Amino acid sequence: MSNNRIKFILNSTVKEVDFNTSNFRPSTTVLNYLRSFNDTKGVKEGCAEGDCGACSIVIGELTENNSIRYYSVDSCLLFLASIHGKQIITIEGLERKLENRTVLHPVQQALIDHFGSQCGFCTPGIVMSIFALYKSNAYPNRNDVVQNLSGNLCRCTGYEPILNAALEVCSNLQPDHFDANEKNVVKILEEIKRKQASVIATAKSQVYHLPETLQEALEIKESNPTVKVVNGATDTAIRQNKFHEYIEEILDISNVSEVKLLSKQGNGFYIGAGVTIEALKTFAKKNIPTILPMLEVFASHQIRNVATIGGNLATASPIGDLIPLLMAHSARVELVSSNESRWVEVQEFITGYRKNCLKSNELIKGILIPKVDENVTIKSEKVSTRHQLDISTVSLSARIEFEMEAVKSIILAFGGMAEVPKRALKTEAFLHGKTFNRETIEKAMEKISDDFTPISDARASAEYRLVAAKNLLLKLISG
Ligand SMILES: Cc1cc2nc3c(=O)[nH]c(=O)nc-3n(C[C@H](O)[C@H](O)[C@H](O)COP(=O)(O)OP(=O)(O)OC[C@H]3O[C@@H](n4cnc5c(N)ncnc54)[C@H](O)[C@@H]3O)c2cc1C
Ligand code: FES
Ligand code: FES
Repeated sequence: MSNNRIKFILNSTVKEVDFNTSNFRPSTTVLNYLRSFNDTKGVKEGCAEGDCGACSIVIGELTENNSIRYYSVDSCLLFLASIHGKQIITIEGLERKLENRTVLHPVQQALIDHFGSQCGFCTPGIVMSIFALYKSNAYPNRNDVVQNLSGNLCRCTGYEPILNAALEVCSNLQPDHFDANEKNVVKILEEIKRKQASVIATAKSQVYHLPETLQEALEIKESNPTVKVVNGATDTAIRQNKFHEYIEEILDISNVSEVKLLSKQGNGFYIGAGVTIEALKTFAKKNIPTILPMLEVFASHQIRNVATIGGNLATASPIGDLIPLLMAHSARVELVSSNESRWVEVQEFITGYRKNCLKSNELIKGILIPKVDENVTIKSEKVSTRHQLDISTVSLSARIEFEMEAVKSIILAFGGMAEVPKRALKTEAFLHGKTFNRETIEKAMEKISDDFTPISDARASAEYRLVAAKNLLLKLISG
C-alpha cells in the first residue's frame, strides 16, 4: 500500500516530503532537491555524472549498535526516496552559532588556514568529503586522504593545500556539535524507521519501492517483472541525468539487510550483492587481498560508498572492473526468487553485451569467492586515462596455478576487449604446461590477436587495445 511520503533529517531539522503534494518525483536527485531551496544552495552541480564531487554531501546512517555512520556521496546520483530514515548533512549544517557568533567546523577552518580554496566552486564538496573522513575517526595517512578525495576535482587551488588541510584536521580530532547531537539523531531516525520501515511512493507517473526485507523485494519483483532494480543507483542515475531516461517503476533494495552479508563460508567468502565497494575493500584487506588492487582504483570514494558488487555484475558491462576479477577467482553467483535459489558461474551469468541470465522474478543475492590456494597467483590491472575515477579502457585479471615453474592451469580474463568481459582461451591454451618466463610470455603476447578483435571507440582504438592487452600480459611477470 502506498504511503507516499518519506521522512529524514536535513542537517538538524526533520523534513518530510509528501509525494501527493510535492513537485518532486521519487527519483528526483537529492542534488536537485537541495538546489530547489534557498538555504541549501552550497551544494553545486558540476557534471551531474559522478565525476567532479562538487555535489558531495554526507549521509548519517543508523548502525546496528545505535550510533551514526557518516559517509560522503555524490548527491547528483542519489534518488530522493532513498534517503528515507537517514540524516543528510550539507555544507550549511557544518557551522554552528555560539552567542550570536558563527563558529566554523574545524574542517572548514583548516581549509581556510591552509589556503585551500580559490574560486570556491568545488569547496563545499571538498569540505564535505574531508568532514566524512574526520567523522570516521580514522587518523588517516596521506594515501588515505588522497583516496578519500579521489572524487573531488578542483580546477584552481592545486591539491597540496587541500591535502595538507585534511591531514592536519584529521590528526587533531575534537568533539563537534554532531557528537553532542548524536543521541538525539539516533532517537529520531529510529522513530522514523519504527513508524515507517518501507516506502512505496507514487508520483508523476513513477512508482518507487524501498522495501526493508528480501522477501518484500522478491514479492515486488514477482508481481512487477519489468520493475527497474537499483541498489547504489550509480549506474542507473546516470541514465536518468544524461539520457533523460524516465523510469516508471523502481525497486530500490539499498535497505535490504539480507543482501549486505559479508562472511566466511566453507572454503571461501560470501559477499552479499548489496555490499558496497568500500565495505568490500575493508573486508578484502584482511580476507581477500587478491581483489584489493582493483577495488582501490574503482571509481571514487563517494561512488564506492554506495556502488555495489551486485550492481557491477548485473550491468554486465564489457568494461565493468569486477567481472574479469570474479572470473579469475572462479566466483559463483547466487540468484534468488520468492520460491527458488540457484547458483551460476560468473561466465554463465553474463550472456551478452550488457545482458545477464537473471529471470524476470530474480535478484542477485550474493557472490561466493573461493579461497585462493597457496600455489595460485592472482594479479589484476586496469589501463585507464587517469589513475583514479576512471573507467577501464582495457583490464586483465589473471589466475595462474603453478606446478614447480610451469603453468598447471590459467585464467586470463580481459575487460574492454570484446562485447563482454572474456577469457583469452587460445592464449591460455598456449601457456598451459609452459615455464612461466619472459620468453614464453613474449610468445603468448602474439596469441592475443587470435583471441580478440577489439573495436575502436571514443575510449581507444582497436590497435591501442591490442597493444595494451599484450602489455598487461607482460606485466604478469613483473613484480
Ligand atoms: C563516475 C563513475 C565512475 C565509475 N567508475 C567505475 C569503475 O572504475 N569501475 C567499474 O567497474 N564501474 C564504475 N562505474 C560504474 C558503476 O559505479 C558500477 O558498475 C557499480 O558497481 C554499480 O553498482 P550500483 O549498486 O550503483 O548499481 P545500480 O545502478 O543500482 O544498478 C546497476 C544495474 O544492476 C542491477 N542490479 C543492481 N543490484 C542488483 C541485484 N542485487 N540483483 C539484480 N540486479 C541488480 C540494476 O537493475 C541495474 O541494471 C562508475 C560509475 C560512475 C558514475
Ligand atoms: S555534480 Fe559532479 S559529481 Fe555530482
Ligand atoms: S577552488 Fe576553484 S575549482 Fe576548486
